[in-house]
Amino acid sequence: MEMNKVIEVKNLVKVYGKRSAAFKALKNIDLDIYEGESVAIIGKSGSGKSTLMHLLALLDKPTSGTIKIEGVDSTKLRARKLNRLRNRSFGFVFQQFFMNPNDTVLENVMLPLKIAGTKRKARRELAKSALKTVGLEERIKFKANDLSGGQKQRVCIARALVNNPSIIFADEPTGNLDSATGDKVIKLLFNANKKGTTLIIVTHDEDLAKLCSRQVRVMDGKIVEDTGAKELKKATRAAAKAAKATKSTKDTKSSTKTAKKGAKA
Ligand SMILES: Nc1ncnc2c1ncn2[C@@H]1O[C@H](COP(=O)(O)OP(=O)(O)OP(=O)(O)O)[C@@H](O)[C@H]1O
Ligand SMILES: [Mg+2]
Repeated sequence: MEMNKVIEVKNLVKVYGKRSAAFKALKNIDLDIYEGESVAIIGKSGSGKSTLMHLLALLDKPTSGTIKIEGVDSTKLRARKLNRLRNRSFGFVFQQFFMNPNDTVLENVMLPLKIAGTKRKARRELAKSALKTVGLEERIKFKANDLSGGQKQRVCIARALVNNPSIIFADEPTGNLDSATGDKVIKLLFNANKKGTTLIIVTHDEDLAKLCSRQVRVMDGKIVEDTGAKELKKATRAAAKAAKATKSTKDTKSSTKTAKKGAKA
């Protein structure tokens, strides 16, 4: 199986503040994420999860180190190209909703499509259908500000899905939701994952973390545990098995030879 690296992080460092106020929030992080994975980033409050997520999603710049997205070194990209890459390939679901509060729900969900240059009619249809998926078709004309927390969260999910992104970044996507709505949101995210979208989720919810194919634990700005890419492990195991099989056929062949030799003698 082909394993495409969608994110390749090397020696990532993030320092907030300057001089005596400087705080190292991420310390030399290395992390590879493969296409189609679902990765849970877990760890205590203040450990650096959101910082890592913001850097991976190219919403903030690292102090040093590199982040390659589909092989492209993002740290070398200019703002325009960076924005284009982000808009085309990423979907976001974040703790702070980042919505335009005075725009309607529909306008908020249409925004990524507008940035991507989708025609107006198509953007309306796509946005409506995404809002239907999250059960908000009745609210499309509401101002985003006039929704409940959970409804806002669902608008964000619709907005994250509408572009059919290759990677979805979700920071506590179920943090503000009742369990029924939370389950719905989780289903939506994993449905996208089944269709090939890579999922990266920061969460305190152990059940949600377990649903992911991989768990990465952050502590004091470092990765202290990583269960690894499942498919990669499978591929490595298969390769080892194949190598062993080839070797044992060779062994059998040579022992047959020896046996024959023995028979002759
Ligand atoms: N803009 C900032 N300026 C200075 N320090 C910051 C800034 N943002 C975050 N930090 C610090 O960096 C550390 C990591 O923060 P981060 O938001 O990544 O934590 P987190 O793991 O997401 O926590 P939580 O689970 O509470 O959301 C914290 O100690 C925080 O105080
Ligand atoms: Mg956080």
